[in-house]
Amino acid sequence: MNNKIVNDSSPNTITTRTELETEKELTAPAPQIEDWTQVEKVILERRSVRWYKSEQVPEHLVRRILEAGRYAPSAGNSQPWKFIVIRDKALLKEMEHDVRQTCKLFRFFLNWRGRGPMGKIAWFNSQMMIRLLPHELHPIPLGAMFLIAEGKLKLFHDAPTVILILKDKRGVSNPDLDCGICGQNMVLAAHSLGLSTCWVGFVTALIKSPYRFKWLKRLNIKYPYELLEGITIGYARGNPNKMVERELHEIAWYENGQKTITY
Ligand SMILES: Cc1cc2nc3c(=O)[nH]c(=O)nc-3n(C[C@H](O)[C@H](O)[C@H](O)COP(=O)(O)O)c2cc1C
Repeated sequence: MNNKIVNDSSPNTITTRTELETEKELTAPAPQIEDWTQVEKVILERRSVRWYKSEQVPEHLVRRILEAGRYAPSAGNSQPWKFIVIRDKALLKEMEHDVRQTCKLFRFFLNWRGRGPMGKIAWFNSQMMIRLLPHELHPIPLGAMFLIAEGKLKLFHDAPTVILILKDKRGVSNPDLDCGICGQNMVLAAHSLGLSTCWVGFVTALIKSPYRFKWLKRLNIKYPYELLEGITIGYARGNPNKMVERELHEIAWYENGQKTITY
């Protein structure tokens, strides 16, 4: 990185990270682990857990988690969410089965690495579909979809409790974002209660598949609600919670007529 300092006070001035760090070091030393607040600890140490004990989560704890979701902020305070709690093993198993079948179907049509004429057709399909659904068929979810199809990745990771978040389509502004904030409140609350969680976006495969009407009826999902996300909850096997590395994204910092690029 070029650390050249430009000595003018225009808002476009780029000072250096080194200079900023020196300045910050003088005024605000980096917090040590023992200085973190409880909330910071929960945020930094929470991990997605994909290996649970069979022990069920007490109902009162699930209710506390739902309360954390209910108290989330939302645009215009529209609270565009509704929750479904599933703790019925047979039901979870059936959902898992149908999602796996759906993933198999996707793999059949989109496995562009396959050989022979089907491979060529799948290549053509994937070229077309990836343009229509660039996020859903990004290589990461596509790879995970194939793993689910092959039985190498579980949908709910054997968690004993799953919360489904339904989005109210009439929400103000951006209800998807509101539901994300609501879900993160629940995930963090669960962690603070000694529980583990994992978001499960793939649960929506249930309603993007031939099983759509079966599950809309079964879970009684009607307008204005739409299945948006799932969150598994349970007690983790082992001790997965710890800080992990994250990307450092550039931050543009405007202050005192100067722009600083920092991290
Ligand atoms: C909206 C959303 C959907 C996700 N869907 C899945 C999923 O279907 N299956 C899964 O195993 N993990 C899923 N994850 C978990 C991510 O893979 C995980 O958050 C990411 O790898 C970072 O790891 P961490 O949560 O331990 O920090 C999802 C996460 C988010 C935020």
